[in-house]
Amino acid sequence: METLTPPGPRARLAGLVLAAAACAGFFLSSAEPARAEYGDVVINSHSDAAGVRPVVFPHWFHRVRFRCKVCHSDLGFKFQAGGNDINMVKIIDGQFCGACHNGAVAWSVENCDLCHSGKPNTPTQVHESTIQKLVGAPAAAAAAPGPAAKR
Ligand code: HEC
Ligand code: HEC
Ligand code: HEC
Repeated sequence: METLTPPGPRARLAGLVLAAAACAGFFLSSAEPARAEYGDVVINSHSDAAGVRPVVFPHWFHRVRFRCKVCHSDLGFKFQAGGNDINMVKIIDGQFCGACHNGAVAWSVENCDLCHSGKPNTPTQVHESTIQKLVGAPAAAAAAPGPAAKR
């Protein structure tokens, strides 16, 4: 019977997307401005087109915690910004970021805004400069910088 089948990745994603939509207002008003540092990778092969912010992957943050081999050999990440065709179905299925961002090794996929933190329309790239601004501020803060903008 169909109803006894556990929900597949797509059904689970649909649920998460709904939950995310419900929380979107909260995220926009309360999210701390994310940081982008030298060596961060912006991944935007699908994000803009799908209406979510580009992904900022903090490479150094991960490199100090894991050997290169864990990601670039065991998990199969190719050594190229944008060189992996990543999407949420794969992530929820435990591939790519989802091998760790599963609530066990690291926080899980419901934290959309922690990964999708880039400024809209930022192309896929390796972030070369600490001056360059990749991370979009919430609209209100961008219009009128408040205390949060000083961080
Ligand atoms: C652990 C990091 C991470 C988290 C958390 C995350 N994403 Fe993503 N997501 C990615 C990456 C990486 C891509 C590929 C980005 C690209 O190529 O533009 C992606 C792509 C997407 C896409 C476009 C491709 C597709 O699958 O349709 C959508 C839409 C999306 N994410 C929505 C979400 C939503 C909604 C949430 C929260 C429920 C979420 N993401 C949480 C990393 C993440
Ligand atoms: C936690 C996983 C992870 C670890 C650990 C990791 N990387 Fe990466 N690396 C990535 C991801 C994700 C990308 C971007 C891939 C994409 O955009 O599809 C990347 C991209 C790269 C790139 C391509 C950058 C460019 O110019 O396009 C190089 C080179 C690289 N990594 C080298 C390393 C080295 C060397 C180490 C160890 C010191 C390392 N990585 C550790 C996940 C990791
Ligand atoms: C090998 C395991 C692993 C993989 C693969 C991985 N992460 Fe992480 N990530 C972690 C861990 C562990 C943390 C720290 C979690 C914590 O502090 O609770 C983390 C933290 C983060 C943070 C927060 C950084 C900060 O400053 O606090 C972001 C953003 C992030 N990951 C994005 C991604 C994205 C996007 C991908 C896929 C392109 C990815 N991660 C793949 C293990 C991984």
